Amino acid sequence: MSTETQTGAAGPKTTDFERVLVTSALPYANGHIHLGHIAGAYLPADIYVRYMRMRGEKVLYIGGSDEFGVPITLTALKEGISPQEVIDRYHFANKEAFERLGISYDMYGRTSWELHVDTTQTFFKALDDDGKIYAEEVELWYSEQSDRFLPDRYVRGTCPKCGYTNANGDECESCGAQYAAHDLVEPRANIPGDSSMPILKKSRHWFLDLPEFKEPLKTWVDEHPEWRANVRGIALGWINDLRARCITRDTDWGVPIPLDDPDAAKKRIYVWFDAPIGYVTNTRQWGIEQENDDTAWEQWWKNPKTRLLHFIGKDNIPFHAVIFPAMLMGQGDYVLADQVVGNEYLNVYNRQTGKSEKGSKSRGNMISVKWALDQFPRDVIRYYLCAIAPESKDADFDWDDFMNRYNGELCDVVGNFIHRSLTMAVKNFAQAVPPEGTLDAEDEALLAYIPEQVDAIGESLSNCRFRQAIERVIELGRKANVYFDGKAPWVTRKTDLDRTGTTLYVCCQVVKALCHVLAPFTPDAAERLGQTLGITLPEGGPEGGEDGWNLAKIHLPAGHALEKPQVLFPKVDPDVIAELAAAHERGEAF
Ligand code: 2FM
Ligand code: ZN
Repeated sequence: MSTETQTGAAGPKTTDFERVLVTSALPYANGHIHLGHIAGAYLPADIYVRYMRMRGEKVLYIGGSDEFGVPITLTALKEGISPQEVIDRYHFANKEAFERLGISYDMYGRTSWELHVDTTQTFFKALDDDGKIYAEEVELWYSEQSDRFLPDRYVRGTCPKCGYTNANGDECESCGAQYAAHDLVEPRANIPGDSSMPILKKSRHWFLDLPEFKEPLKTWVDEHPEWRANVRGIALGWINDLRARCITRDTDWGVPIPLDDPDAAKKRIYVWFDAPIGYVTNTRQWGIEQENDDTAWEQWWKNPKTRLLHFIGKDNIPFHAVIFPAMLMGQGDYVLADQVVGNEYLNVYNRQTGKSEKGSKSRGNMISVKWALDQFPRDVIRYYLCAIAPESKDADFDWDDFMNRYNGELCDVVGNFIHRSLTMAVKNFAQAVPPEGTLDAEDEALLAYIPEQVDAIGESLSNCRFRQAIERVIELGRKANVYFDGKAPWVTRKTDLDRTGTTLYVCCQVVKALCHVLAPFTPDAAERLGQTLGITLPEGGPEGGEDGWNLAKIHLPAGHALEKPQVLFPKVDPDVIAELAAAHERGEAF
């Protein structure tokens, strides 16, 4: 069990809201998503939206592919295919991987959609009209051999700050430093067939005047003391040292710049300007598809009663807690995020070295979602990634821990309690919930604990403390097992059937509560358990509805029919784990 404590509890504001709009970072359509992505930006968001839907809130969950930018054109160049082929390949693969894992988007869109050009250009023009964008000539690296500028990863060199030799044009991936192009040491072109020494050449670009937003940004962050410490820290660090950001690039793969200017025609809007606007585009597309209405999105983005939450990995924090909010402020009438849930990284525990290492393509140590789902039911993966969620510090994916947590907690505690309770009720009480009988103090204590713990789990989920929430689910199972062992219904069955009935009546109520509270985390098991119990779990959605979470507290009446229980959480076999860990070490898990 983790002893990690959370600094700065994240919680909903006290102002009431009518809608909940949730976004997860749009992954680049330039590679397969892996478990590190899932633990950061996707599973926590999905658990949150499933919970909010159960609560009957009007919820919309938006995601999609981020399809512009240099990594995609570089992949296309390396493989000798078009950027469109690259994004088609990964967009559909990632969409499918998310679906298989149960990441329940209402819309999984694409920034290559024509609609996105319109949304992005509208944002750009509003900022430009308001004087928040200006043009300036800058010196950038240029390859004479390829006769082109070298934006971002098209140039490599040595970081002026830390000496990392594979740093890119304006940013070091190793130490995070940002610098002017001319500060890069020993630059070289990074294009297939061209590693020539570039020259500095003038190019006119457009800048977002971020310092103009300093005060409103500061006010907004100050209104949210409940944000996680990492998000607040990074946001305030940036806000205290705001500089204008270049929002265009010398490339033809991106949204065209909506300016009548000969220099603009040869350039495109920078991917980090258009990507978060993708959330808006994809909401528009949702409205068009679901409601045949291209104004439906405005209720979600412009109504102050919307609660907006962004779920992201650590590296995306400045974009969601500083730059995108400034862009939204510049539009005048958009809501700002009420919560930016920035997660730390999921690293990989290396069994050979005994050390934790970053997931990386070159090390071959990443686990793709597709591979993981080919090995395990999605509930197993969802459980472990939530149990170790990197909420306030990095976490490790570790095969032994994976097996021990899943087998030892979900199977042995929760699964076992449910199974033995239902098996005894079905066998001894004609496949139905037994009569309540006369409750003693222990029965009453456990019955009173159910609504308390359901509320506590709900509170953890509302506060985006997902590890705490799942620990509380397990805790409910643990307390119920202690009760079951103490009451020993397998003994009383022979001597006192009334007593046995009361015990199992109480157990059935815990099982029912578990069915509800498991649903956001392990939806398949919850659904199967719901069938056994003859109850339907509320699904919810953008229209909202009744509060189904509180239904967890309502007792199943005596005589309510039960089905024979199935094994909800089959144990994972240590030999299988050993084989998979070895395959992972051989780099075969991606
Ligand atoms: O880091 C990434 O994978 C980016 N593609 C995330 C973009 S999030 C949002 F802005 F779209
Ligand atoms: Zn560096």
